[in-house]
Amino acid sequence: MDPKAKKLEEKIAKAHLGGGQQRIDKQHHKNKLTARERITYLLDEGSFEEMGLLVTHRTTDFDMEKQQFLGDGVITGYGTIEGRLIYIFAQDFTVFGGSLSETHAEKICKIMDAAIKVGVPCIGLNDSGGARIQEGVRSLGGYADIFYRNVQASGVIPQISAIMGPCAGGAVYSPAMTDFTLMVENTSYMFVTGPNVVKTVTNEEVTAEELGGATTHSTKSGVTHITSANDITCLDDIKKLLSYLPQNNTKTTKRLPFTLKDETREILEAIVPDNANKPYDMHHVISGIIDNDSFYEIHKDYAENIIVGFARLGGRSIGIIANQPLFLAGVLDVNSSKKAARFTRFCDCFNIPLLVLVDVPGFLPGTDQEWNGIITNGAKLLYALSEATVPRVTLITRKAYGGAYDVMNSKHIGADMNFAWPSAEIAVMGAKGASEIIFKKEIHAAENPAEKLAEKESEYAEKFANPYRAAERGFIDEVIQPKTTRRKLLKAFSMLEDKEVIKPNRKHGNIPL
Ligand code: HXC
Repeated sequence: MDPKAKKLEEKIAKAHLGGGQQRIDKQHHKNKLTARERITYLLDEGSFEEMGLLVTHRTTDFDMEKQQFLGDGVITGYGTIEGRLIYIFAQDFTVFGGSLSETHAEKICKIMDAAIKVGVPCIGLNDSGGARIQEGVRSLGGYADIFYRNVQASGVIPQISAIMGPCAGGAVYSPAMTDFTLMVENTSYMFVTGPNVVKTVTNEEVTAEELGGATTHSTKSGVTHITSANDITCLDDIKKLLSYLPQNNTKTTKRLPFTLKDETREILEAIVPDNANKPYDMHHVISGIIDNDSFYEIHKDYAENIIVGFARLGGRSIGIIANQPLFLAGVLDVNSSKKAARFTRFCDCFNIPLLVLVDVPGFLPGTDQEWNGIITNGAKLLYALSEATVPRVTLITRKAYGGAYDVMNSKHIGADMNFAWPSAEIAVMGAKGASEIIFKKEIHAAENPAEKLAEKESEYAEKFANPYRAAERGFIDEVIQPKTTRRKLLKAFSMLEDKEVIKPNRKHGNIPL
């Protein structure tokens, strides 16, 4: 063999070995794939083109020049997923714990810049101990270079981060600024400071799993949007998520073939119980409306009183936001408002139409909510929906009370089509609470106050616990039978396909963060 070709082959083989067979075995032992295996599984066969295979770090402190690994702990390049071009980086934990050096950061920045220029999604497979300690401020600078690009890319190309190992320090902030964060159960952690530092500073004893494992971030903090059982299912989840997203903010998601048939869905007739205080699962309404099995839920285990996720309707990718009467009666609180606001803004950035399903008794009262800023956080959702210019359709299935009626994509804040089922109750509050306030004197003066309250309650309910007052004013465009909902929505979204909104010129709005 030509010696030059042989030298190249040797270098490639060396680079493919990362930090060495021993460390690769350790990775496998922990039930983790290596960075290279992850890329190979995720991308279409033979499509990956690597960039920067021969890059090495430039540090000489701490005898680092004696420890050189080709690629410097991150594999970068481009390829396709189900035929769609993407850029990708995968951190290699076998090289200095996937820690980020100046050159490691430069490699990531290079593909981020390219992804923005070409207009395609950027995927990061993170597995990193954070800033490379031996490099000091150069690695901190490297992180900041990435953060800056995360922001430049935000709203331009979809950015997806999978956390596939321990990620500490700077390694968690870049994912936090991307659109979606996925975590692998039991093998991935995210924390700004690990359990040892926590113990030193606050004297708290906490395990890595409790502090920043997938369960913690999917249920308590909401930092992760999707959790997966292992590396393989995580990579499958990335593929699935990507299928609902367009390549960039000037494109729409590819529509799957669809022909309109009889779209009646009888199943929708029996979901809302007769008793207005009885809960039901809004997932049944969602699955009754959308294309079969197309719902992909985001933030599934966080703030379960609201459901958000992607689905297909007539082959079109849509975003769904829905109150969930099964949890806290579907109220809006701090966390559900933040969750829905963030999802709204993602869909609006990337031309994904929004369907909002409403059954909401109002905002959650109490000191906990007030002190944690339900005012500012509720305003996030109000702001995000008011600002969204994608096609926006609302369906009120039951309660739409108080300020939550306004917030949940009402006509007044720019929704395009507002439907209600006959079971809808659109009012300032529930009949009992309302009667207790406005008929207080009459009830007190009555011989039998309980009877009077019941009489006034039913009088109020008769007047307001229905969708017709709102329909008379045009706040509801149509009151529809549940079984016709799918057909109505298909037509509404199709009608809105070319919607355009001219917005006044401004630098940007000031969402209540
Ligand atoms: C250099 C590192 C490293 C780092 C790990 N390694 N983290 N090298 N810089 N940040 C090396 C280890 O020395 C070790 O090398 C190998 O990677 C594997 O690490 P282990 O500790 O053996 O693995 P494990 O037990 O799985 O623990 C993983 C870990 C732990 C939880 C990530 O290594 C850890 O706590 N690292 C430090 C995390 C941290 O505090 N980072 C913050 C940096 S500050 P050998 O040669 O033995 O295989 C930061 C600030 C940026 O990021 C702020 C921006 C806003």
